[in-house]
Amino acid sequence: MNVRNIVCIGAGYVGGPTMAVIADRCPDVRVTVVDVNEAKIAAWNSEALPVFEPGLPEVVQRARGRNLFFAPLTPQVLAEADMIFVCVNTPTKAYGEGAGMAADLQYWEKSARTILAHARPGTIVVEKSTVPVRTAEAISRILNQSNRDEVFPVLSNPEFLAEGTAVQDLVAPERVLIGSSNSSVGEAAARELGAIYEYWVAPEHVLYTSVWSSELAKLTANAMLAQRVSSINAMSALCEKSGADVTELSRAVGMDGRIGQRFLEAGVGFGGSCFRKDILNLSYIAGQLGLQQVADYWRSVVDINDYQIDRFCKGILENMFNTVAGKRLAVFGFAFKPGTDDVRDAPAIRVCTRLLDEHAELAVTDPQALDNARAALDGLPGTVHYLADPYAAVAGAHALVVCTQWPQFRELDYERIFASMEKPAFVFDGRNCLDHERLYDIGFNVVPIGKAPMRHY
Ligand code: UDX
Ligand code: UDX
Repeated sequence: MNVRNIVCIGAGYVGGPTMAVIADRCPDVRVTVVDVNEAKIAAWNSEALPVFEPGLPEVVQRARGRNLFFAPLTPQVLAEADMIFVCVNTPTKAYGEGAGMAADLQYWEKSARTILAHARPGTIVVEKSTVPVRTAEAISRILNQSNRDEVFPVLSNPEFLAEGTAVQDLVAPERVLIGSSNSSVGEAAARELGAIYEYWVAPEHVLYTSVWSSELAKLTANAMLAQRVSSINAMSALCEKSGADVTELSRAVGMDGRIGQRFLEAGVGFGGSCFRKDILNLSYIAGQLGLQQVADYWRSVVDINDYQIDRFCKGILENMFNTVAGKRLAVFGFAFKPGTDDVRDAPAIRVCTRLLDEHAELAVTDPQALDNARAALDGLPGTVHYLADPYAAVAGAHALVVCTQWPQFRELDYERIFASMEKPAFVFDGRNCLDHERLYDIGFNVVPIGKAPMRHY
């Protein structure tokens, strides 16, 4: 078989950009993305795409209507597929066994049953959502229940794209991982998927493994990236107590080629749809397998992250004379990182919740994520203004709290901002992204992460 017809279930942050790049790079393969959410499909077919991702509109523009289609999920779409990617969300389970730790696989299982009902035998099923190890095996059991043969070969092909750089990560991936069973059917299916990637990825970057290694590699990669962030954040607390500077520390440590410079930026904590969820999932799996020390080890990466967010909030309170009640605070950045409108598990959610608990009045500004911010804070008691204009957000504020390092925040007129704020005016730079010396010279009291505060009193 040569794959000519790809279908993807799930038109989210992963499914949409991944399929757009596959369609763009494989002009003779027809790619159809389906989703239960019809509004999302309509948005993918419009000029206002449902996810903000640099470079994505151009890719979609080139391929949409040619060999890239966004459509409702119908039996016929599935029946025509040679290969079906499953990119549905796998959130942390909120109920029952494993609540708060395990992955909720209900959407995945539902997708498998839909595939079983409508797809042709022989259709290759590709697991792209991050899932607990051995999910592919469980899915394979659903798909191949009545038959010992692999009627529907199931592959694991984890995504490694980071939001904000998704298109670049997809166009020039460091590696493409394809996990399969070691049967001849499984291996043939893996080669079919490899052939799709090899339209634009050099063969030496395509790695073939067992399904379980592939699934576990995804969880491990995210856990180890998050662990670096928690490690440097733990050191930022030590820097604040000891007088060292965490930026200098990162630079010095990162110059060791074995360690490297990336993912050593201390901040208010990591966020996003993957890190927390995947580590909790990994920890849960280890615990289930009787490896409590391993479970505790990874769990501590999440604990340090919670501690870091908490420390940041306490620092705001302590510096502002132990009360923010009735004070306006401007929150700069709500997305979990720059370059995206995604606020899933964003540190800003927790920071805002804490500040509202203290009866602060908040003015949130973000270049892309204001609508998602509003939805995330909906229902919390207190006053929150959502303002696209950062100057409007800071007017009359006692403090400016940076939660996302959008580059445009560096370019603002901080003399003008200082003039419009209550005094003493504070900057809490949760991303160490502003020019602290300059802000101090203007008159701000500046409280960074992992380095000495600069105060005028
Ligand atoms: C991410 C990553 O895929 C993943 O690795 C992680 O495990 C979960 O979240 P993402 O694309 O960011 O996925 O999620 P999201 O933007 O929520 O997209 C999932 C899409 O699947 C949604 O649009 C949802 O409507 C759709 N979906 C969900 C279906 O089409 N059918 C379902 O049964 C469930
Ligand atoms: C991550 C992985 O990088 C990606 O490979 C995987 O497929 C999905 O999960 P993503 O969540 O999009 O991607 O963003 P990432 O760039 O990894 O950042 C995650 C969080 O860590 C962000 O909140 C970011 O602000 C934070 N971070 C990152 C730091 O606080 N310091 C750093 O040095 C790096």
